[in-house]
Amino acid sequence: MSKVYKLAIIGCGGIANGKHLPSLSKLNNVDIVAFCDIVEERATEAASKYGAEGARVYTDYTELLKDSSIEIVHVCTPNDSHADISIAALEAGKHVMSEKPMAKTAHDAKRMLEAAERTGKKLTVGYNNRFRSDSLHLKAVCESGELGDIYFAKAHAIRRRAVPTWGVFLDEEKQGGGPLIDIGTHALDLTLWMMDNYKPKVVLGTAYHKLSQRENAANAWGPWDPAKFTVEDSAFGMIVMEDGATISLESSWALNTLEVDEAKCTLSGTEGGADMKNGLRINGEKHSRLFTTDVDLSAGGVAFYEGSSENPADLEMKLWIKAIDEDTEPVVTPQQAFVVSQILEAIYESAKTGKAVYL
Ligand SMILES: NC(=O)c1ccc[n+]([C@@H]2O[C@H](COP(=O)([O-])OP(=O)(O)OC[C@H]3O[C@@H](n4cnc5c(N)ncnc54)[C@H](O)[C@@H]3O)[C@@H](O)[C@H]2O)c1
Repeated sequence: MSKVYKLAIIGCGGIANGKHLPSLSKLNNVDIVAFCDIVEERATEAASKYGAEGARVYTDYTELLKDSSIEIVHVCTPNDSHADISIAALEAGKHVMSEKPMAKTAHDAKRMLEAAERTGKKLTVGYNNRFRSDSLHLKAVCESGELGDIYFAKAHAIRRRAVPTWGVFLDEEKQGGGPLIDIGTHALDLTLWMMDNYKPKVVLGTAYHKLSQRENAANAWGPWDPAKFTVEDSAFGMIVMEDGATISLESSWALNTLEVDEAKCTLSGTEGGADMKNGLRINGEKHSRLFTTDVDLSAGGVAFYEGSSENPADLEMKLWIKAIDEDTEPVVTPQQAFVVSQILEAIYESAKTGKAVYL
Protein backbone atom coordinates (compact mmCIF):
# COMPACT_ATOMS: atom_id res chain seq x y z
CA MET A 1 0.00 0.00 0.00
CA SER A 2 1.31 3.46 -0.88
CA LYS A 3 2.14 6.03 1.76
CA VAL A 4 -0.66 8.21 3.16
CA TYR A 5 0.41 11.84 3.56
CA LYS A 6 -0.72 14.04 6.44
CA LEU A 7 -1.83 17.41 5.11
CA ALA A 8 -2.89 20.69 6.73
CA ILE A 9 -4.92 23.59 5.37
CA ILE A 10 -4.19 27.16 6.47
CA GLY A 11 -7.03 29.54 5.55
CA CYS A 12 -10.43 27.83 5.37
CA GLY A 13 -12.30 30.28 3.12
CA GLY A 14 -13.52 30.29 -0.48
CA ILE A 15 -10.70 28.57 -2.33
CA ALA A 16 -10.01 26.03 0.42
CA ASN A 17 -13.64 24.89 0.38
CA GLY A 18 -14.16 25.41 -3.35
CA LYS A 19 -11.04 23.68 -4.66
CA HIS A 20 -8.50 22.17 -2.24
CA LEU A 21 -10.71 20.30 0.21
CA PRO A 22 -13.17 18.65 -2.21
CA SER A 23 -10.35 17.49 -4.50
CA LEU A 24 -7.92 16.44 -1.77
CA SER A 25 -10.63 14.46 -0.04
CA LYS A 26 -10.99 12.29 -3.16
CA LEU A 27 -7.37 11.12 -2.87
CA ASN A 28 -6.81 7.94 -0.94
CA ASN A 29 -3.18 8.77 -0.17
CA VAL A 30 -3.95 12.01 1.73
CA ASP A 31 -5.39 12.55 5.21
CA ILE A 32 -6.35 16.13 6.04
CA VAL A 33 -5.34 16.26 9.68
CA ALA A 34 -5.22 19.96 10.60
CA PHE A 35 -7.22 23.08 9.77
CA CYS A 36 -6.31 26.66 10.64
CA ASP A 37 -8.22 29.91 10.25
CA ILE A 38 -8.16 33.13 12.25
CA VAL A 39 -11.95 32.72 12.27
CA GLU A 40 -12.17 29.53 14.33
CA GLU A 41 -15.64 28.48 13.14
CA ARG A 42 -14.36 28.28 9.56
CA ALA A 43 -11.62 25.87 10.57
CA THR A 44 -14.02 23.83 12.73
CA GLU A 45 -16.58 23.61 9.95
CA ALA A 46 -14.00 22.51 7.35
CA ALA A 47 -12.55 19.96 9.80
CA SER A 48 -15.95 18.45 10.45
CA LYS A 49 -16.64 18.15 6.73
CA TYR A 50 -13.25 17.10 5.37
CA GLY A 51 -11.05 16.17 8.34
CA ALA A 52 -9.56 12.77 9.04
CA GLU A 53 -10.47 11.18 12.36
CA GLY A 54 -9.08 13.30 15.20
CA ALA A 55 -8.35 16.29 12.91
CA ARG A 56 -7.15 19.30 14.86
CA VAL A 57 -8.28 22.93 14.62
CA TYR A 58 -5.99 25.96 15.05
CA THR A 59 -6.33 29.74 14.91
CA ASP A 60 -2.56 30.32 14.90
CA TYR A 61 -0.62 28.75 12.04
CA THR A 62 2.66 28.79 13.98
CA GLU A 63 1.11 26.32 16.42
CA LEU A 64 -0.05 24.07 13.60
CA LEU A 65 3.46 24.04 12.10
CA LYS A 66 4.88 22.61 15.34
CA ASP A 67 3.16 19.30 14.57
CA SER A 68 6.00 17.30 13.07
CA SER A 69 3.66 14.63 11.73
CA ILE A 70 2.26 17.12 9.15
CA GLU A 71 4.12 16.69 5.87
CA ILE A 72 2.24 18.97 3.47
CA VAL A 73 0.69 22.40 4.02
CA HIS A 74 -1.68 24.26 1.69
CA VAL A 75 -1.71 28.03 2.14
CA CYS A 76 -5.14 29.44 1.24
CA THR A 77 -5.00 32.83 2.97
CA PRO A 78 -5.08 36.30 1.37
CA ASN A 79 -2.07 37.30 -0.75
CA ASP A 80 -0.17 39.29 1.88
CA SER A 81 0.40 36.23 4.08
CA HIS A 82 1.37 33.65 1.41
CA ALA A 83 5.09 34.35 1.81
CA ASP A 84 5.41 34.36 5.61
CA ILE A 85 3.22 31.29 6.09
CA SER A 86 4.81 29.35 3.22
CA ILE A 87 8.36 30.14 4.35
CA ALA A 88 7.57 29.17 7.95
CA ALA A 89 6.04 25.91 6.70
CA LEU A 90 9.04 25.13 4.48
CA GLU A 91 11.40 25.89 7.38
CA ALA A 92 9.31 23.52 9.52
CA GLY A 93 10.04 20.78 6.98
CA LYS A 94 6.71 20.72 5.12
CA HIS A 95 6.06 20.66 1.37
CA VAL A 96 3.93 23.67 0.44
CA MET A 97 1.24 24.55 -2.06
CA SER A 98 0.50 28.27 -1.88
CA GLU A 99 -2.54 29.72 -3.56
CA LYS A 100 -1.97 32.12 -6.43
CA PRO A 101 -0.48 34.65 -6.81
CA MET A 102 2.73 33.30 -5.31
CA ALA A 103 3.01 36.41 -3.11
CA LYS A 104 1.99 40.03 -2.84
CA THR A 105 5.38 41.26 -4.09
CA ALA A 106 8.18 39.86 -6.24
CA HIS A 107 10.52 40.28 -3.26
CA ASP A 108 8.30 37.99 -1.18
CA ALA A 109 8.03 35.49 -4.05
CA LYS A 110 11.84 35.44 -4.23
CA ARG A 111 12.04 34.78 -0.48
CA MET A 112 9.69 31.81 -0.95
CA LEU A 113 11.77 30.46 -3.82
CA GLU A 114 14.94 30.77 -1.75
CA ALA A 115 13.29 29.04 1.23
CA ALA A 116 12.31 26.11 -1.00
CA GLU A 117 15.86 25.87 -2.33
CA ARG A 118 17.36 26.19 1.16
CA THR A 119 15.14 23.57 2.78
CA GLY A 120 14.96 21.17 -0.16
CA LYS A 121 11.19 20.97 0.32
CA LYS A 122 8.78 21.22 -2.60
CA LEU A 123 6.89 24.42 -3.29
CA THR A 124 4.16 24.94 -5.86
CA VAL A 125 1.54 27.59 -6.61
CA GLY A 126 -2.17 27.04 -7.31
CA TYR A 127 -2.27 27.84 -11.03
CA ASN A 128 -5.15 25.43 -11.61
CA ASN A 129 -5.92 26.65 -15.15
CA ARG A 130 -2.95 24.68 -16.42
CA PHE A 131 -4.91 21.50 -15.61
CA ARG A 132 -7.93 22.21 -17.85
CA SER A 133 -8.21 19.89 -20.82
CA ASP A 134 -7.83 22.74 -23.35
CA SER A 135 -4.67 23.96 -21.58
CA LEU A 136 -3.16 20.48 -21.43
CA HIS A 137 -3.85 19.88 -25.10
CA LEU A 138 -2.45 23.25 -26.11
CA LYS A 139 0.67 22.60 -24.04
CA ALA A 140 1.18 19.35 -25.95
CA VAL A 141 0.70 21.21 -29.25
CA CYS A 142 3.27 23.83 -28.21
CA GLU A 143 5.75 21.20 -27.06
CA SER A 144 5.43 19.35 -30.37
CA GLY A 145 6.72 22.44 -32.16
CA GLU A 146 3.57 22.64 -34.30
CA LEU A 147 3.28 26.39 -33.75
CA GLY A 148 6.97 27.04 -34.42
CA ASP A 149 8.58 29.98 -32.68
CA ILE A 150 5.84 31.78 -30.68
CA TYR A 151 6.70 35.47 -30.98
CA PHE A 152 3.36 37.10 -30.12
CA ALA A 153 0.80 36.19 -27.47
CA LYS A 154 -2.18 37.69 -25.73
CA ALA A 155 -3.08 36.85 -22.13
CA HIS A 156 -6.79 37.41 -21.48
CA ALA A 157 -8.38 38.11 -18.08
CA ILE A 158 -11.35 40.34 -18.81
CA ARG A 159 -14.68 40.47 -16.99
CA ARG A 160 -17.41 42.93 -17.86
CA ARG A 161 -18.71 43.23 -14.28
CA ALA A 162 -17.51 40.55 -11.87
CA VAL A 163 -15.76 42.27 -8.98
CA PRO A 164 -15.15 39.88 -6.04
CA THR A 165 -16.82 41.61 -3.10
CA TRP A 166 -16.14 39.04 -0.36
CA GLY A 167 -13.01 38.74 1.78
CA VAL A 168 -10.23 41.25 1.13
CA PHE A 169 -10.01 41.23 -2.67
CA LEU A 170 -10.53 45.00 -2.91
CA ASP A 171 -7.94 45.82 -0.26
CA GLU A 172 -4.63 47.00 -1.73
CA GLU A 173 -2.75 46.38 1.51
CA LYS A 174 -3.87 42.74 1.83
CA GLN A 175 -3.84 41.75 -1.84
CA GLY A 176 -1.19 43.95 -3.45
CA GLY A 177 -3.50 44.77 -6.35
CA GLY A 178 -6.80 44.04 -8.09
CA PRO A 179 -7.63 42.12 -11.27
CA LEU A 180 -4.03 42.06 -12.50
CA ILE A 181 -2.69 40.15 -9.50
CA ASP A 182 -5.96 38.22 -9.05
CA ILE A 183 -6.90 36.97 -12.52
CA GLY A 184 -4.21 38.49 -14.78
CA THR A 185 -1.84 36.20 -12.88
CA HIS A 186 -3.62 33.06 -14.20
CA ALA A 187 -3.64 34.32 -17.81
CA LEU A 188 0.03 35.28 -17.67
CA ASP A 189 1.04 32.00 -16.05
CA LEU A 190 -0.77 30.08 -18.77
CA THR A 191 0.79 32.16 -21.55
CA LEU A 192 4.38 31.86 -20.28
CA TRP A 193 3.89 28.11 -19.77
CA MET A 194 2.66 27.65 -23.35
CA MET A 195 5.55 29.71 -24.71
CA ASP A 196 7.99 28.06 -22.29
CA ASN A 197 9.60 31.46 -22.07
CA TYR A 198 10.55 32.81 -18.64
CA LYS A 199 12.96 35.56 -19.63
CA PRO A 200 11.20 38.95 -19.59
CA LYS A 201 13.26 41.95 -20.67
CA VAL A 202 11.06 45.03 -20.53
CA VAL A 203 7.54 45.76 -19.28
CA LEU A 204 5.20 48.68 -19.87
CA GLY A 205 1.92 48.89 -17.97
CA THR A 206 -1.15 50.96 -17.22
CA ALA A 207 -3.67 50.64 -14.38
CA TYR A 208 -7.06 52.29 -13.97
CA HIS A 209 -9.44 53.16 -11.15
CA LYS A 210 -12.22 54.24 -13.51
CA LEU A 211 -15.26 52.28 -12.28
CA SER A 212 -14.25 51.44 -8.72
CA GLN A 213 -15.82 54.55 -7.21
CA ARG A 214 -19.25 53.92 -8.74
CA GLU A 215 -22.15 53.56 -6.28
CA ASN A 216 -24.69 50.74 -6.76
CA ALA A 217 -22.82 49.35 -9.74
CA ALA A 218 -24.09 46.35 -11.64
CA ASN A 219 -21.99 43.39 -10.58
CA ALA A 220 -22.19 39.59 -10.66
CA TRP A 221 -21.73 39.46 -6.88
CA GLY A 222 -23.76 42.56 -6.01
CA PRO A 223 -22.62 46.17 -5.78
CA TRP A 224 -19.21 46.84 -4.28
CA ASP A 225 -18.41 49.37 -1.59
CA PRO A 226 -16.45 52.18 -3.31
CA ALA A 227 -14.80 53.16 0.00
CA LYS A 228 -13.24 49.69 0.26
CA PHE A 229 -12.19 49.48 -3.40
CA THR A 230 -8.56 50.58 -3.12
CA VAL A 231 -7.12 48.35 -5.88
CA GLU A 232 -7.25 49.03 -9.63
CA ASP A 233 -10.33 47.92 -11.60
CA SER A 234 -8.32 47.30 -14.81
CA ALA A 235 -4.67 46.92 -15.73
CA PHE A 236 -2.90 46.24 -19.00
CA GLY A 237 0.66 45.37 -19.87
CA MET A 238 3.05 44.85 -22.71
CA ILE A 239 5.93 42.51 -22.04
CA VAL A 240 8.91 42.09 -24.35
CA MET A 241 10.95 38.98 -23.72
CA GLU A 242 14.73 38.63 -24.08
CA ASP A 243 14.29 36.71 -27.34
CA GLY A 244 12.14 39.54 -28.75
CA ALA A 245 8.72 37.87 -28.25
CA THR A 246 5.85 40.18 -27.22
CA ILE A 247 3.02 39.45 -24.78
CA SER A 248 -0.01 41.68 -24.42
CA LEU A 249 -1.74 41.18 -21.07
CA GLU A 250 -5.24 42.50 -20.38
CA SER A 251 -6.98 42.23 -17.03
CA SER A 252 -10.16 43.72 -15.62
CA TRP A 253 -12.95 42.96 -13.18
CA ALA A 254 -15.13 45.70 -14.67
CA LEU A 255 -14.71 46.87 -18.24
CA ASN A 256 -17.24 48.12 -20.75
CA THR A 257 -16.73 45.41 -23.33
CA LEU A 258 -18.57 42.38 -24.66
CA GLU A 259 -15.28 40.59 -25.27
CA VAL A 260 -14.94 38.81 -21.97
CA ASP A 261 -12.58 35.93 -21.41
CA GLU A 262 -10.56 34.73 -18.52
CA ALA A 263 -7.49 32.55 -18.00
CA LYS A 264 -7.07 32.10 -21.74
CA CYS A 265 -4.35 32.94 -24.20
CA THR A 266 -3.90 33.49 -27.91
CA LEU A 267 -0.62 32.42 -29.43
CA SER A 268 1.00 33.30 -32.76
CA GLY A 269 4.01 31.35 -33.93
CA THR A 270 6.00 31.05 -37.14
CA GLU A 271 4.26 27.78 -38.11
CA GLY A 272 0.78 28.32 -36.69
CA GLY A 273 -1.35 29.90 -34.04
CA ALA A 274 -3.76 28.91 -31.30
CA ASP A 275 -6.83 30.55 -29.90
CA MET A 276 -8.49 29.43 -26.66
CA LYS A 277 -11.52 31.68 -27.07
CA ASN A 278 -14.73 29.81 -28.00
CA GLY A 279 -13.09 26.42 -27.66
CA LEU A 280 -9.55 25.54 -28.62
CA ARG A 281 -8.65 26.30 -32.23
CA ILE A 282 -5.36 25.78 -33.98
CA ASN A 283 -4.72 27.78 -37.13
CA GLY A 284 -2.07 27.57 -39.81
CA GLU A 285 -1.18 27.38 -43.46
CA LYS A 286 -0.82 24.25 -45.62
CA HIS A 287 -0.37 23.86 -49.37
CA SER A 288 -0.83 27.63 -49.83
CA ARG A 289 -4.16 27.64 -47.97
CA LEU A 290 -5.11 28.72 -44.48
CA PHE A 291 -6.74 26.19 -42.17
CA THR A 292 -8.35 26.19 -38.74
CA THR A 293 -8.84 23.07 -36.63
CA ASP A 294 -11.40 22.90 -33.84
CA VAL A 295 -10.06 20.59 -31.18
CA ASP A 296 -12.64 18.14 -29.83
CA LEU A 297 -11.94 18.03 -26.10
CA SER A 298 -14.83 15.73 -25.29
CA ALA A 299 -12.77 12.56 -25.47
CA GLY A 300 -9.21 11.36 -25.20
CA GLY A 301 -6.47 12.86 -23.15
CA VAL A 302 -2.86 13.79 -22.94
CA ALA A 303 -0.98 10.64 -22.07
CA PHE A 304 1.86 12.23 -20.16
CA TYR A 305 -0.55 13.94 -17.79
CA GLU A 306 -2.72 10.89 -17.17
CA GLY A 307 -6.33 11.59 -17.82
CA SER A 308 -7.14 15.11 -18.92
CA SER A 309 -10.82 14.24 -18.68
CA GLU A 310 -10.63 14.72 -14.90
CA ASN A 311 -11.82 17.84 -13.18
CA PRO A 312 -8.86 20.32 -13.31
CA ALA A 313 -8.73 20.75 -9.52
CA ASP A 314 -8.70 16.97 -8.99
CA LEU A 315 -5.85 16.66 -11.46
CA GLU A 316 -3.96 19.57 -9.92
CA MET A 317 -4.09 17.97 -6.47
CA LYS A 318 -3.36 14.47 -7.74
CA LEU A 319 -0.27 15.55 -9.69
CA TRP A 320 1.03 17.68 -6.80
CA ILE A 321 0.86 14.77 -4.36
CA LYS A 322 2.37 12.50 -7.03
CA ALA A 323 5.31 14.91 -7.45
CA ILE A 324 5.93 14.66 -3.70
CA ASP A 325 5.53 10.89 -3.71
CA GLU A 326 7.85 10.36 -6.67
CA ASP A 327 10.20 13.21 -5.78
CA THR A 328 9.80 14.95 -9.13
CA GLU A 329 9.27 18.62 -10.00
CA PRO A 330 5.71 19.86 -9.54
CA VAL A 331 3.92 20.94 -12.75
CA VAL A 332 3.99 24.55 -11.47
CA THR A 333 7.53 25.29 -10.31
CA PRO A 334 8.32 28.15 -7.91
CA GLN A 335 10.84 29.50 -10.43
CA GLN A 336 8.04 29.91 -13.00
CA ALA A 337 5.63 31.45 -10.48
CA PHE A 338 8.32 33.91 -9.40
CA VAL A 339 8.69 35.21 -12.97
CA VAL A 340 4.90 35.75 -13.10
CA SER A 341 5.14 37.81 -9.88
CA GLN A 342 8.09 39.77 -11.24
CA ILE A 343 6.20 40.74 -14.40
CA LEU A 344 2.99 41.68 -12.53
CA GLU A 345 4.96 43.90 -10.18
CA ALA A 346 6.73 45.54 -13.13
CA ILE A 347 3.33 46.34 -14.70
CA TYR A 348 2.21 48.02 -11.46
CA GLU A 349 5.47 49.93 -11.21
CA SER A 350 5.32 51.06 -14.82
CA ALA A 351 1.68 52.14 -14.34
CA LYS A 352 2.77 54.32 -11.40
CA THR A 353 5.85 55.87 -12.97
CA GLY A 354 4.72 56.02 -16.59
CA LYS A 355 8.04 54.46 -17.55
CA ALA A 356 9.06 51.10 -18.93
CA VAL A 357 10.61 48.72 -16.40
CA TYR A 358 13.74 46.80 -17.47
CA LEU A 359 14.08 43.49 -15.64
N1 LIG B 1 -6.73 29.39 -7.82
C1 LIG B 1 -7.76 30.20 -7.97
O1 LIG B 1 -8.36 30.26 -9.03
C2 LIG B 1 -8.20 31.04 -6.81
C3 LIG B 1 -9.53 31.43 -6.68
C4 LIG B 1 -9.91 32.19 -5.57
C5 LIG B 1 -8.94 32.59 -4.66
N2 LIG B 1 -7.64 32.23 -4.82
C6 LIG B 1 -6.60 32.69 -3.89
O2 LIG B 1 -6.81 32.09 -2.62
C7 LIG B 1 -6.47 33.01 -1.59
C8 LIG B 1 -7.66 33.13 -0.64
O3 LIG B 1 -8.80 33.55 -1.37
P1 LIG B 1 -10.28 33.14 -0.90
O4 LIG B 1 -11.18 33.48 -2.01
O5 LIG B 1 -10.28 31.78 -0.36
O6 LIG B 1 -10.47 34.21 0.27
P2 LIG B 1 -11.38 34.06 1.55
O7 LIG B 1 -11.41 35.40 2.18
O8 LIG B 1 -12.66 33.40 1.19
O9 LIG B 1 -10.58 33.04 2.51
C9 LIG B 1 -9.35 33.35 3.13
C10 LIG B 1 -9.40 32.75 4.54
O10 LIG B 1 -8.12 32.91 5.15
C11 LIG B 1 -8.33 33.23 6.52
N3 LIG B 1 -7.12 33.86 7.01
C12 LIG B 1 -6.66 35.11 6.79
N4 LIG B 1 -5.47 35.30 7.37
C13 LIG B 1 -5.16 34.13 7.98
C14 LIG B 1 -4.04 33.68 8.75
N5 LIG B 1 -3.01 34.48 9.01
N6 LIG B 1 -4.07 32.42 9.24
C15 LIG B 1 -5.10 31.59 9.00
N7 LIG B 1 -6.19 31.96 8.27
C16 LIG B 1 -6.20 33.20 7.77
C17 LIG B 1 -9.56 34.12 6.50
O11 LIG B 1 -10.17 34.21 7.76
C18 LIG B 1 -10.42 33.43 5.45
O12 LIG B 1 -11.28 32.45 6.02
C19 LIG B 1 -6.09 34.32 -2.28
O13 LIG B 1 -4.70 34.43 -2.33
C20 LIG B 1 -6.66 34.18 -3.66
O14 LIG B 1 -5.91 34.86 -4.66
C21 LIG B 1 -7.26 31.45 -5.86
